[in-house]
Amino acid sequence: MKKPFLRVLVVLLVARFLGTPVLAAPAASAPLPRERLLLDAGWKFHLGNDWGSGHNLAKSGSGIGPASVVFSDASWRPVDLPHDWAVELPFDKSADGAHGFKALGSAFSKNSVAWYRRTFTLPASDAGRRLWLEFDGVYRDATVFVNGWFVGRHESGYSGFRFDITDVAAVGGRNVVAVRVDASEGEGWFYEGAGIYRHTWLVKKSPLAIAPDGVFTYGAFKNNTPGGPAKVRLETRLANAAAVPVEAKVVWTILDPDGKSVANARRSIRVAASGKTDATGSASVPVPVLWSPETPRLYQVVTTVELEGKIVDRLTTSFGLRTFAFDANRGFLLNGRPYVIRGTCNHQDHAGVGVALPDRLQSFRLERLKEMGSNAYRSAHNPPTPELLDACDRLGLLVMDESRQVGSDSANLDRLEHLVRRDRNHASVAIWSLGNEEFSTQDTSAGKRTAATMQALIKRLDTTRPVTYNSIAEHGRAGIDEVIEVRGWSYRIGVDRMDAYHAANPRQPSVGSEQGSTITTRGIYATDPTRCTMSAYDDNRTPWSNTAKEWTGFFASRPWLSGGFVWTGFDYRGEPTPYDWPCINSQFGILDTCGFPKDNFWLYQSWWTDKPKVHLVPHWNWTGREGQEIDVRAYSNAEEVELLINGKTLGRQKMAAFSELKWKVPYVQGALAARAFRGGQVVAGTQVETTGAPTAIRLTADRIDLRADGEDLTIVTVAAVDVQGRVVPTANVPVTFNLTGPGRILGVGNGDPASHEPDVFVASPKIRARSIDGWRWSKIANPYAETIAATAPGFDDSTWAKTDVRRPSGPLGPDERGLFRATFTVTDSDLAAQAVELWFGKIDGDGRIFLNGKRIGPSGDARAASVYDVKSLLQPGRNTVAVAVANYGPAAGLNLGVELRMQDQGPSPVWSRSTFGGLAQIIVQTTKQPGSLELRAHAAGLATATLPIPVAAAAPRPSVD
Ligand code: GAL
Repeated sequence: MKKPFLRVLVVLLVARFLGTPVLAAPAASAPLPRERLLLDAGWKFHLGNDWGSGHNLAKSGSGIGPASVVFSDASWRPVDLPHDWAVELPFDKSADGAHGFKALGSAFSKNSVAWYRRTFTLPASDAGRRLWLEFDGVYRDATVFVNGWFVGRHESGYSGFRFDITDVAAVGGRNVVAVRVDASEGEGWFYEGAGIYRHTWLVKKSPLAIAPDGVFTYGAFKNNTPGGPAKVRLETRLANAAAVPVEAKVVWTILDPDGKSVANARRSIRVAASGKTDATGSASVPVPVLWSPETPRLYQVVTTVELEGKIVDRLTTSFGLRTFAFDANRGFLLNGRPYVIRGTCNHQDHAGVGVALPDRLQSFRLERLKEMGSNAYRSAHNPPTPELLDACDRLGLLVMDESRQVGSDSANLDRLEHLVRRDRNHASVAIWSLGNEEFSTQDTSAGKRTAATMQALIKRLDTTRPVTYNSIAEHGRAGIDEVIEVRGWSYRIGVDRMDAYHAANPRQPSVGSEQGSTITTRGIYATDPTRCTMSAYDDNRTPWSNTAKEWTGFFASRPWLSGGFVWTGFDYRGEPTPYDWPCINSQFGILDTCGFPKDNFWLYQSWWTDKPKVHLVPHWNWTGREGQEIDVRAYSNAEEVELLINGKTLGRQKMAAFSELKWKVPYVQGALAARAFRGGQVVAGTQVETTGAPTAIRLTADRIDLRADGEDLTIVTVAAVDVQGRVVPTANVPVTFNLTGPGRILGVGNGDPASHEPDVFVASPKIRARSIDGWRWSKIANPYAETIAATAPGFDDSTWAKTDVRRPSGPLGPDERGLFRATFTVTDSDLAAQAVELWFGKIDGDGRIFLNGKRIGPSGDARAASVYDVKSLLQPGRNTVAVAVANYGPAAGLNLGVELRMQDQGPSPVWSRSTFGGLAQIIVQTTKQPGSLELRAHAAGLATATLPIPVAAAAPRPSVD
């Protein structure tokens, strides 16, 4: 006789012994109760503050204008998220330069408020589930409505937020999400974008589920130093939406970096009715694989929640086993050993897309920083998007995770708590930062108390990481620095200041939270205010900052400073220091806004990586300067560098640490070469050559193995090259682009700090509007009836009173009810338009709209125009519109005009961008269709480039249809 039970038991025991992930597999084949669906695609967008706040403060469920369910967005522009509308706006000299001179802000009210709408259906099978809308970031002041109901407002442009929409969702029916975004005010002094610029999600869960951000898992080592087994602490917050307490079971399974189950734990717990309860456990990982930037190996914890034997929730969370510490004398310790932080500070901003960075672009940027030898990233001066942290976990970068502002008001503390709960599992997050350079409060006692409150909140939520704050060095220690765990140093390196502080405060660890800051323009070797350029040698800095050579040298001899974060990895829009208009972006970056390296990239790389290398500055295209001395520099990590012009040696020089070598070379055309030596042997070489004039455009994609998931993208370098295929470093040529196949262009850029060329090209719609006139009206008994005979097309209204609906108010008096009618003609060409809408300036009173005798919906609020999508309801020839109105006020009626509006998409715009210093960038994204993309780039007089990009079929992420 077979003994199936015994066989299963044996398999389980053997599997457990061998470490296979048995417990990670679903215990039941029923569909998992948690779904997290991407809600990025298929939104409609309208720029303009045309409907007020949308919020009906008087009555529930009655959002105004776009917030109302009946509103038509048929004529709105389709957009997919992430989306930044600021990047689409023109530059304007009168706009705020710190924000990049975009025509945005309170002085540009028409450009500063926008609406987004998304319609979707929820299947009937969602009945009984908890439904959440999650926004990872909206810039800024978002008011969210679902099915006409106000569901919440979130002002911060940087922290994520979520709303439980279960009560107002239409399960088994159509749902409308409307988001009003108000970017009139800035939160920072740098470009901040505008719109729903991070991912949006619809989350479906069981009534008993893991609470939002409810998992916290971390490894603890004896004496905070790896060696021996890691104790893994497991914390899970359960949320019970039911009105009765429940007995739940939580099972944690730990998977090692190869996906093998290596430990588990379980806990039974009673979860309070309509409440939250924390379940805790621990497990031991006997042979931990440590995470570090060099070995970014990740563990996962699978948290499973069971109720009455059934799995009701399951969530997989990545974490890392490693230790962090900041030591007052030894500096930063990673896994128990001194580890020099080689970091950069960055804003979320990239050419072409502004702050709306798709995930792949986040990784692309981090990969460039890693290539330079950087091992750390400061998310300045705001919480990053979660995908950035995922990429830092995966690629290996330590993160300083920063709150936007210092403040202990309840909203700021809520945001801080949200940040810590959201990000505390990330292997990469090494330190929390309370904020940045609070000029008016840093050295006050209120600042000190506020920082202490924030720090205490962080410590309550996470005991595993220290806390810092980017402190203005001149302000001394009073205030925030008296209480902050790790002293952050912002610029102003100096023996007096830093060494004296360290001597006086020998127990407080330090970190160079913001350092460096050379100001350079990629590929330009002259400082020219008329063109907004700063020479690309490591020479120019602000009075408060230091060049790369200065700060790295200073820090290298002071290990207690822990290393630091350069301002900045990448250029960003805004802060055009030291210039003003027409300069529109910062030039502190080691890479430009496209991620093209400036020379300082190789300077840092020579110090931050071991592989022997040498780099020469500048390029060698100096026609017209023959015989004049050119300032030549070499960056290398070798011991000596020899310079050669056209094969003739110009001598060898010894390379000192954190330094550069200099020559003055009289210009002759040809090749300037460098050879780097270690131990007398040539270990690396490079050369810059005088190129010919540009003869062709070349397109090079960073990747061509694209996936048709609607999110993947390739970052294409556009180069003007000479006949030998060499990039011409002085070529600034206009290029036009044409993309065919299933894809779209997201944006273009070139890193030029003074370029006012558009980053995106948006088709302008063509709108035709016709006034509907000839209205008559009569009193009626019941405007609420489902059918009203007098709304029918053939009804004879010739005896009714004529009325001019363009007037501002009336004609209904107190308590009167009336029906308004008009007929109008529609042509085949009208109906061929993409969107056909009926637009009512103002329906004053409680209105019901009928088209050709059929009721199409109630009117919106009288404070906003009502718009109806009628394309499928109209017929060619004569049509009848009728509006039944009940008056509860002094006067009511149909006012401010009625129009039929037809809208067509304008012609597709031609994308273009000039090369700057020989280079430009174009970002191409896939749709959900596989196939072949072809990108063509054309410049007058140069050979056209064609780049085929295959797009393979791929499953998109689970998303809302
Ligand atoms: C710092 C500030 C940064 C940026 C930088 C420019 O003081 O923290 O946000 O403004 O100066 O040098």
